[in-house]
Amino acid sequence: MMQPLLEVRNLKKYFPVVKGFGPFKEIRWLKAVDDVSFTLHKGETLGLVGESGCGKSTTGRAILRLIEPTSGEVIFQGENIIALSQKEMRKKRREMQIIFQDPFASLDPRMTVKEIIAEPLRVFKTRENIKKRVEELIEKVGLSRSHLDRYPHEFSGGQRQRIGIARALALNPKLIVCDEPVSALDVSVQAQVINLLEDLQKEYGLTYIFIAHDLSVVKHISQRVAVMYLGKIVELGPVEQIFNNAKHPYTKALLSAIPVPEPGAKKEKIILEGDVPSPINPPAGCSFHPRCSGKKPICIEVMPDLVEVEKGHVVRCHLYSGEVKRGI
Ligand SMILES: Nc1ncnc2c1ncn2[C@@H]1O[C@H](COP(=O)(O)OP(=O)(O)OP(=O)(O)O)[C@@H](O)[C@H]1O
Ligand SMILES: [Mg+2]
Repeated sequence: MMQPLLEVRNLKKYFPVVKGFGPFKEIRWLKAVDDVSFTLHKGETLGLVGESGCGKSTTGRAILRLIEPTSGEVIFQGENIIALSQKEMRKKRREMQIIFQDPFASLDPRMTVKEIIAEPLRVFKTRENIKKRVEELIEKVGLSRSHLDRYPHEFSGGQRQRIGIARALALNPKLIVCDEPVSALDVSVQAQVINLLEDLQKEYGLTYIFIAHDLSVVKHISQRVAVMYLGKIVELGPVEQIFNNAKHPYTKALLSAIPVPEPGAKKEKIILEGDVPSPINPPAGCSFHPRCSGKKPICIEVMPDLVEVEKGHVVRCHLYSGEVKRGI
């Protein structure tokens, strides 16, 4: 098989949290990303979903080294970029871009659209004709040249996200981390921005990590979906298998929260009890067990490993790991 574009191996990001002071000072670790591994092929989209605080953004940022991972490897086009110096990494970042949720906060309000899109080209001192490239980019994202001399506040949320996309595309990246790019937009506008991202992906062979809270948002754009819970991937598989044959009780609960489009259709709704526990003191055993209706004694003590339940479909749950099957 072709070499993957990206291979993330055992990625961890622990944030220090200081409790108390003086002689009572104690450092604890918030395990925002705790041993995440996956591969991604060129042209593919991996959806990354889970509730707020489960570590999606930290995963995306650690892959691009916008924050330094605590440990793990990020193999991009065959090279472990974690080993690169800051200077080498800056060069590499041309090929790895990020689009944020809030296009207003991420666009400098004092810069015109032209300046915003041209900035990465200037920083990397490309030999290209910058004016021509900026005009080409603004049209690629469905806006027009007449928009170039305006400021971000003159645009709607969807248009601002298009400007953010044009800027991310400026240096011809290979990988784009889309961190909730449509979460702040109206539903009708969400679909337009997702369609735009899909068109650009086809045209340029882009590879996406597409982060969202909600499984329904990633359904149409992703070939594979990873579900995160408290810093770990708890289920990962082809999108059809995640939607039609989810195994993890957490994935099932997320699926049951998606509204049914046909009127009158009935669906059993699984209510998740309680909040996500703190990643500073995650529960022993399977971190989902306090909220799981199917838990067994082993779940309280032992963190399950990921096991393959179908080709390319893995799940971190004792119900599938053998111990419970054998009746322990
Ligand atoms: N710089 C930081 N310092 C300390 N803790 C952090 C930092 N950044 C994130 N965290 C913590 O790491 C955990 C994961 O945060 P992250 O932003 O990755 O979650 P998320 O899945 O993207 O959530 P959301 O859906 O709300 O965007 C959270 O508990 C968060 O409070
Ligand atoms: Mg986030």
